[in-house]
Amino acid sequence: MSTSAQIGVTGLAVMGRNLARNFARNGYTVAVHNRTASRMKALVEEFGNEGDFIGAETAEEFVAALERPRRLVIMVKAGEPTDAVIQEFAPLLEPGDMIIDGGNAHFADTRRRERELRERGIHFVGTGISGGEEGALHGPSIMPGGSTESYASLGPMLEKISAKAKDGAPCVTHCGPDGAGHFVKMVHNGIEYADMQLIGEAYQLLRDVAGYSPAEIAEIFRTWNTGRLDSYLIEITAEVLSHVDAATGKPFVDVVVDQAEQKGTGRWTVQIALDLGVPVSGIAEAVFARSLSGHAKLREASQGLAGPNAVPLGKEEAAAFADRVEQALYASKIVSYTQGFHEIAAGSEEYGWDIDLGAVASIWRGGCIIRAAFLDRIRAAYDARADLPSLLSDETFAREIAEAQDDWREVLIAATRQGVPTPGFAAALAYYDALRARRLPAALTQGQRDFFGAHTYRRADREGSFHTLWGGDRSEVSA
Ligand code: 6PG
Repeated sequence: MSTSAQIGVTGLAVMGRNLARNFARNGYTVAVHNRTASRMKALVEEFGNEGDFIGAETAEEFVAALERPRRLVIMVKAGEPTDAVIQEFAPLLEPGDMIIDGGNAHFADTRRRERELRERGIHFVGTGISGGEEGALHGPSIMPGGSTESYASLGPMLEKISAKAKDGAPCVTHCGPDGAGHFVKMVHNGIEYADMQLIGEAYQLLRDVAGYSPAEIAEIFRTWNTGRLDSYLIEITAEVLSHVDAATGKPFVDVVVDQAEQKGTGRWTVQIALDLGVPVSGIAEAVFARSLSGHAKLREASQGLAGPNAVPLGKEEAAAFADRVEQALYASKIVSYTQGFHEIAAGSEEYGWDIDLGAVASIWRGGCIIRAAFLDRIRAAYDARADLPSLLSDETFAREIAEAQDDWREVLIAATRQGVPTPGFAAALAYYDALRARRLPAALTQGQRDFFGAHTYRRADREGSFHTLWGGDRSEVSA
């Protein structure tokens, strides 16, 4: 058995297979292995002409085929299957070797695995990979964590197989130690959920309030895709909306059951944000909107509830309304990215990762599901000022939101009047207004907490903690 493979991939379902092919197409010799060898054989048979593959039937053969330090990519389901594969391979490895987990693992699992393997001298590189099966083959956005040493050895290979942004920069960066890469990927997916929800709300408004057909809305999205909303998700939305179901001749979107599923990465983003105390309300509404859509019985039981039915606008008004929806969508999108980047900054602070937010924006410019022209501007904002308190503090974004806000509010007024649910747009605007408010009702909340639980409060006019004797003479005491 030759020991010339620079990298090995085990787990050859679609993502693993395409990643292995991507490495091979880029000139690397790739060892390939799968629990059931037939999948490995099929890959070598079908795509062997694309590059140098070394097929391995057993774990021992696979490990023996790799040059040292060994770089072993595992592409299996997150959770127990990942632990099982690590347990199978780790005993066969030597200090300095690395295991690269390219699945959608929870960053806390990655931190645990990294710690356990570090004790044995093995590098564990938890790596977010985005772009679906096409991205894995033609160039994904790659978000590796792990040690600096492992990145020195692995980074150049990842840079080679990654997507390239329009300026030619590879869409990969060393996010930080241990779980940093999978944390960044988790937030990427949270933002993906928010983007999809906002696009969904824009679609529903264009359909129910403006009265456009799916085909007409597809054209509107195509136009938007030539402007500041230029992104993969807007592009594929137009494709999905213009697709016609062959069996019925109806718009495809009208024959699909309106219950959205999820594998859980968006939910993790919200769960972790709650733990970190970061308000990701737009992302949370996107997760809740998916879960609400799936409550079929609850929705069925609520069909008779009172409320307006949307009455479509006339032609001219509809066109003006569509422009307003574009403004609302763009402003809400700025807010969801603001929230996502805040979560990454908070995670980085909590776990000591030192994540470069500008670099994250940069590697999301190509290859990944949320790739968008807009990310170039986020990168520029962080490049200009790495300690930007929030994206909304960036002059350009603040000005754009200022220009969009009248339309944003008008769209929400129309949605509320006509009974079209827009939780993403509404949460984004509420976040924006709460941030800019001089006073929040949180002062009243503090008063209530002190009243019923003597939880104390701070005063705006002097230092210290105080408690009011609510049950007595209502005098104030220092707490
Ligand atoms: C990507 C995607 C990918 C996948 C997610 C979302 O970045 O390539 O985010 O990871 O599509 O698992 O899937 P759900 O919508 O099922 O959660």
